[in-house]
Amino acid sequence: MADRLDKFISENSSLTRSEAKKALSGGRVTVNGLVSKKGELKVTDEDEVALDGKNLKKIGLVYVMLNKPAGVISATEDSRDRTVLDLIKENREIFEKCPKNGLFPIGRLDKDTEGLLVISNDGQLSHNLLSPTKHVEKEYIAECEGTLAKDAAERFEAGLQVGDEYKALPAKLTVLSDDGKKCTLKIVLTEGRFHQVKRMCHEVGAEVVFLKRISFGKLVLPDDLKVGEMRFVCKEDITGSDN
Ligand code: URA
Repeated sequence: MADRLDKFISENSSLTRSEAKKALSGGRVTVNGLVSKKGELKVTDEDEVALDGKNLKKIGLVYVMLNKPAGVISATEDSRDRTVLDLIKENREIFEKCPKNGLFPIGRLDKDTEGLLVISNDGQLSHNLLSPTKHVEKEYIAECEGTLAKDAAERFEAGLQVGDEYKALPAKLTVLSDDGKKCTLKIVLTEGRFHQVKRMCHEVGAEVVFLKRISFGKLVLPDDLKVGEMRFVCKEDITGSDN
């Protein structure tokens, strides 16, 4: 596919679009060995584009695993709050290897939820992972206050009625600790509705006060990836297969 030269440079280097234009007019860019100053020139995968003598490779699809901190929103931009894309931009090492357009979070975590979030530019994978028919598992740890119903796990397993809005798909609930006033739960869902963990816990008497996602598909949040940290993963780390 053909791209404008200035766009190709800004997407595949650390330069912004206007920096790319300056680099072009400064004679820092060559196409197939010849200096080119024309941002509008169309280049294809066959062309060799170099900036300051270094070949630029097309970045392609990327997958970034983030341990999302609370207080940051799962969006590409926002006028008020910091977004997960802002976190990527602030991480120079990661940002340099990412395309400068087209990144988005695959699914959402609430502003106050921590944990595993994948950021990518792979629209097809996102569709496959988020489609309710694919039943991709997402695992959460919820710290809750209140008295958990004795039959909570059975009700989750049977498909819990949430308000009068919907019946959730069967979900797994494991009680990690429970002293009658507060509990820690491990919950596995295969869908991703708005505030779903919080709402399901509420239905069984537990109010979530802290929520963290610890896995998404086959990808598990590593213990050594601290809150706010991120690293590249492969598509197969998420899907568990190479298709
Ligand atoms: N369920 C919730 O209630 N919140 C999240 O962030 C994710 C799942």
